[in-house]
Amino acid sequence: NWTTGNILEEQVERIRQQIGDSKVICGLSGGVDSAVAAALVQRAVGDQLTCVFVDHGLLREGEAEQVERDFVAATGVNLYVANEQERFLNALAGVSDPETKRKIIGREFIRAFEEAERAIIAQAAAEGEKIKFLVQGTLYPDVVESGGGEGAANIKSHHNVGGLPEDLQFELVEPLRALFKDEVRAVGAQLGLPQEIVGRQPFPGPGLGIRIVGEVNKERLDLLRKADAIARAELTAAGLDNDVWQMPVVLLADVRSVGVQGDGRTYGHPIVLRPVSSEDAMTADWSRLPYDLLARISNRITNEVDGVNRVVLDVTSKPPGTIEWE
Ligand code: XMP
Repeated sequence: NWTTGNILEEQVERIRQQIGDSKVICGLSGGVDSAVAAALVQRAVGDQLTCVFVDHGLLREGEAEQVERDFVAATGVNLYVANEQERFLNALAGVSDPETKRKIIGREFIRAFEEAERAIIAQAAAEGEKIKFLVQGTLYPDVVESGGGEGAANIKSHHNVGGLPEDLQFELVEPLRALFKDEVRAVGAQLGLPQEIVGRQPFPGPGLGIRIVGEVNKERLDLLRKADAIARAELTAAGLDNDVWQMPVVLLADVRSVGVQGDGRTYGHPIVLRPVSSEDAMTADWSRLPYDLLARISNRITNEVDGVNRVVLDVTSKPPGTIEWE
């Protein structure tokens, strides 16, 4: 009989027992999972926790600020920020294969994170302290889909589960490992995290890097960020945030189609809207969003985002489609 209250109490108690009076480190991805995991650990052991935010430049509009400003304000956590946008762009240059992109982002993320770790370890050592633990915001569905469950196949490489280095010198703290997303949100709300963080749609670790079909570059990221911000703003304005599980917005950077705008012919890229309903992301159905909302999103994106002349709707369930396009 799990209620949010006793999940919280039980996890806080478990975390205290596991960590004792050691130092602990936690990566924040910008997503709800790592935010709630970090807030739980902060609640359990306070200043023993240092959070690390590697800004890979693949987040959506406003998300880096939500971590650096709003999350810190809500929790009072110690935060170390690594600005690594250039590094990820360089590593991704010329790459379009989805699994290769995922591997590169996962690898660079781990390297950048380890560099940040070293800085924090050195600082702790100067104070005569050692960092023994690493917090991970792994959820139950991540465990299952990455092959951690009973006989499940590795469908896509989820870098927050499978990609840890083998010589890991930390013991893992995984307070969300038995939870589904709705339980994580409830625990986050209970912990006093702001609604923009707790109510945030699930967002993949590799970020917008796997929502650009084709090569990733700064220009395409900026374009996709604009289109995504419009789609999200309109969904929120329509009061339908709670009717969708998530709505990936995807740029088909390798596809162009002919259009007409003003007096001229255009030859631009399509944007795909992928709103889905789901309980746990293991299966999903496409959301039947109102036509007038879809029309508003389409009009605004084609009018306001340079280089986009078409908006299309993905009407595929999972299976056979996955939620993300890559
Ligand atoms: P798919 O595309 O496999 O996605 O149907 C299922 C859910 O997982 C999210 N997703 C990820 N989450 N790291 C994550 O933390 C990842 O690499 C990753 N790839 C997909 C996806 O957004 C959906 O919610």
